[in-house]
Formats: sequence, structure tokens, C-alpha cells
Amino acid sequence: MGKGFVMALDAGTTGVRTIIFNKNSEIVGVSSKEFKQIYPNPGWIEHNPMEILKCQLETIQDAINNSGVSINEIVSIGITNQRETTVIWDKHTGKPVYNAIVWSSRQTASYIEKWTEMGLNDVIRQKTGLINDPYFSASKIAWILDNVPNARDQANKGDLLFGTIDTWLIWNLTKGKSHTTDYSNAARTMIFNILTLEWDVELCNEFTVPMSLLPEVKPSNGDFGVTDSSILGASIPIRGNAGDQQAALFGQACFKPGMAKKTFGTAGVFVMNTGQTPYYLDGLTTTIAWGLDNKITYALEGVVFSCGSTIQWLRDGAKMIHGSSDSEWYADQIEDTGGVYLVPAFSGLSAPDWDMYARGIIVGITGGTTYQHIIRAGVEAMAFQTKDILNCVLENKEIAITELRIDGGAVKNNLLCQFQTDILGIPVVRPTVTEMTALGAAYLAGLGVGYWSDTNEIEKNWSIEKVFHPLMSKEKQRKHYQGWKAAVNLTRGWTKK
Ligand code: G3P
Repeated sequence: MGKGFVMALDAGTTGVRTIIFNKNSEIVGVSSKEFKQIYPNPGWIEHNPMEILKCQLETIQDAINNSGVSINEIVSIGITNQRETTVIWDKHTGKPVYNAIVWSSRQTASYIEKWTEMGLNDVIRQKTGLINDPYFSASKIAWILDNVPNARDQANKGDLLFGTIDTWLIWNLTKGKSHTTDYSNAARTMIFNILTLEWDVELCNEFTVPMSLLPEVKPSNGDFGVTDSSILGASIPIRGNAGDQQAALFGQACFKPGMAKKTFGTAGVFVMNTGQTPYYLDGLTTTIAWGLDNKITYALEGVVFSCGSTIQWLRDGAKMIHGSSDSEWYADQIEDTGGVYLVPAFSGLSAPDWDMYARGIIVGITGGTTYQHIIRAGVEAMAFQTKDILNCVLENKEIAITELRIDGGAVKNNLLCQFQTDILGIPVVRPTVTEMTALGAAYLAGLGVGYWSDTNEIEKNWSIEKVFHPLMSKEKQRKHYQGWKAAVNLTRGWTKK
């Protein structure tokens, strides 16, 4: 057994976690905390960056306490995070000038309209691989600078810094010494050129983003500094950093082109390794999977904004279930949804439809519809959304995808996994460890300090818990999916009507 342990900080959308791994990728300590979701206006979502930092530090302490590991035994820290979420802070005081604007927030739709009118959509796509949408960081940065009194003046004077949540945590853990991010996170900002691997001057000018705000971009197993001993009681190297979706692809050991995973988190994100070549496909985004010792691996990505958040809404909004895990039990009480479809376009439609004005819908209700049908429709929605994305890939004859690796909280739900394979028509593989986001960050951090020697060693740690095979007839699959597509069409442009 290798000496020491690796610690992963997983800063997700609804909560943060700290997980301590040993060399066999086994979890020896874990702690998590939820933080507040702030909804200032319909369609807006914000977080308090100070609360995220406080919760993250508390989970580090808890994980250390409950693992029995000493902080001095941690050989490296890896960070993984909800991507795109934007924080701008004063570099002298460390205080954020505004809340973090969350990736799913829609408050910057007018910027996207303006940039479309300026004819920027093609250049955005070509340089960043992304689609002009409020989802990415660029419009959030511009919004904060334009709406917070004095922010633009302060930015122009070089007093402010921008970061996604990884950068915010690193800057604080190193007491302001490291203002850095990695390629996978930079690639989600809509101002990073994924071909030249630099912040793009032309796009920054068009979007009025001063370049003095921007962090230094490093490989995902690069040197992000050391923690200040006054914060964790020890100076530990931070040697791993990747956006949560790319980290999960790494944790799933999808190291070869064509290998793909879907993570069922708050968002549901399909990512496929495309090797050293950026690959563009309509409806999907092209992104950087990771930079490993300066070798860039690209990926194709299909994001669904509301995946686990559908179940969260059934629990907290609709109050149809008490706990998320109840959804499987209720959904299993009935044969099917009785023709009910729930399209959770809470924050608009993401890949492959991209409609920032769409909103959610429940259709097909009859006098016989019960809450169970709606719960089941919510579970099935997560699988239908995967099919929308996989169809883009499967229709492309150049790419052969033979199985889908899955991870994230919702994959404990066997009904979801079976429905997923049925509706896709390809096997769905559930690995033994499903905490892939944190594991991917731990691997990167471990590679950074030689704790693990290479990806071959990591690959050996990946193992299958269960493979789900399709059982549904092609005809039933076709009919189900047809109904889903019709329901999705009804949501389009809703807030513009
Ligand atoms: O791009 C958004 C994604 O990174 C959020 O992931 O799992 O926190 O919803 P999650």
C-alpha cells in the first residue's frame, strides 16, 4: 500500500464534499454539506461564495476526523467543481463583489441575444467549442461588471479577480498566492480558445471582459500551489483540478477515444473522449477533457441542465416524495407512466435543443393519473434526456459507441438504469465506485505527485458492479420516445410567448 492518502474536494451545485482515498481507490473518509440555493428572481440562481468556502473547510475537517487520517498524511489535494459558476472578488480584501452566479442561472439571456445580433455565434463555436448560451461564464462575468456599482471601474484598475469555484477555493486555500484554474474548467468559460489554449483576446474584447481578471491556466495534474498552514494546519500540495464532468470521465477510466460516461448529478452530463482532436457535432459542445502533463485530450459533451434536480423538485417543490431514494419505490408501483411525460426544462433546454426560453411541463394527464405516474415520469425523463444526446452521437457513423458507463447519486436507482438501457438500446455499465467525480480529482492529484504512476495503474482500479442490458422491444422504445419528443416540443420558447 502506498504511503499516505489523497484528498478530493468536490464542490458541487447543491453541496460540497471531501473524500479521502487510499491507493486502491477505496474511500477512507468522507464528509458532505449542503449549502443554500438563492433564487433572487424567477430563472436566477446564485450561491454565496463565502458559504461554499466555509462548508468546504468544515467537510475537510470532518473527513479528517472521521477517517482517523492525520492531515500530515495527505500527500496531495485534488479539486473538482460545478463548472461555469462565476465568482468575482476583490483581490485585496478577498470579498466577493456579488454572489456566485450559478451555471444554470438565466439572468444573462439579454447578453446572449446581443452577442447573437453581433454575429458572434460562429466564432464562439469555432474558438471555444461552445454554444452562445447563458450557461457558460462569459455573460455572467459581463453581468456582474455591469450591474454591481463600481465593479467595472475596479476591474479596469486591476483590483478584481474572476474564477470558477475551483479557482475561488484554490485562491483561498493558498491565502491568495495561487490564482489558477485548469484547462477543463477554462474551456467552460466561453472566453478560452480550446485550439490555441489561451484566453481569447478577441472574445474578451467583444464580451467586455478585462483580461486582468483571468486566472493562469494549468494542466489538470499541474501545480496549483500549496495550502497555507494557517488554514488546514499543514502545507499540502494541490496537484489536481478538473471540472466535475471531466473529472468523472477520468474517474471512469475513459482514457481511449470513443469511451463515454454519463453522470447523473444535479445536471446530467454525457462526455465522450475524442482523443487529441477536437470533434464538432451539431447540438453538442466540444470541450477539453483534461490536460495531462501538457497533453490535451478533447471531449464531446452533452449537458442536461435538470437531471437529479428533477428528483429534488419532486421532493422539495412538488413534495411528492420524502427522500430522493423513494422515487424508485413509487415509480416501481406502476407498470408505466400511463402516457404522462414530465419535461424538466426548469432552466430552459440544454443539449441538443438549446432554448434558453423553454420551461418545464407535465403533459398527458388524465383522470386516472396519480402522483406515482408523475414520479415515474420524472425518473424516465432523466433517461429520455440521455437518449436525446446519444442520438446525436449514434447518428454519426464515424463514431462507434457500444456501451455507456454511468455514475452519480441517481444510479443507485435500478429502475432508472434498466429504463436507460431499454430506451438507448445499448448496455449501461454501473461501476463498483460511483463517486467518480471525486475519484477523478483524486487520481489527477495523485498523478501530480507520483502517488499513482500512470493511467494504466488507474485503469486497473476500475471495476464493474452491474451491466444492464436492453429488454424493451424496438416498437415500444420507438413509441415511448416519440411521446417524449412531442412533449419536449411543447416547452419551446415558453417564456417568450
Ligand atoms: O456544468 C454544470 C455541472 O458541472 C454541474 O454538475 O453535478 O454539480 O450538477 P453537478
